Amino acid sequence: MKPIIVLNLKTYKESLGRSGLRLCQIASEISLLSGVRIVVCPQATDIRESAQVHSDIFAQHVDCVQQGAFTGSLTAEAIKDAGARGSLVNHSEKRLPEETVGKTVARLKEAGLESVLCTRDAAESARLARFEPTFIAVEPPELIGSGISVSTAKPEVVRGTVEAVAKVNSTPVLCGAGVSSASDVRRAVELGAAGVLLASAFVKSPNPKKLLAEMAEAIQ
Ligand code: G3P
Repeated sequence: MKPIIVLNLKTYKESLGRSGLRLCQIASEISLLSGVRIVVCPQATDIRESAQVHSDIFAQHVDCVQQGAFTGSLTAEAIKDAGARGSLVNHSEKRLPEETVGKTVARLKEAGLESVLCTRDAAESARLARFEPTFIAVEPPELIGSGISVSTAKPEVVRGTVEAVAKVNSTPVLCGAGVSSASDVRRAVELGAAGVLLASAFVKSPNPKKLLAEMAEAIQ
């Protein structure tokens, strides 16, 4: 499988509304030019419009409830109807109890959607791999938003997670936290990752198009 890039737009002011749509447009262009799969996770209220601009949209979170009387919840069916192809699950900034993680991955599957299950380390990744998400994304919390890439600063986390998950099943492993440059992305793939998950370096870049083009080129 070709390595992928997952862009989490979080709730930054630089990714809200029109600005977020511009970032989706950039992802669409670079994905088409490079042939690299680029998933974008916009802010929840921007999912429907983002899906008009880019074909590979994920939610940042989905609630593990059925359709019905669950005021304020975001269902798998709702994100699918809005055009999303999947969702992040258990992001470091939106942690879930382990039982809920399993149920959420199952709900997404039921709805025909993909999942990127986020974890903190190799041990948690190996434990949660049993839920058979589409991808696992390991992100050491202390490096998130730091600008210091996990693949450069903590290569043992990436290598260790890839090895630990491979002992359980064949879930592809992404890595994230601090990924900021094309060489961080290249390094991640060299360490055995199936791709990267990043946020701040892209969202806050003065030239996100150039950065994403360089990252995609590094793993083409
Ligand atoms: O979801 C990606 C994320 O948590 C990493 O954030 O800003 O370090 O790329 P960042």
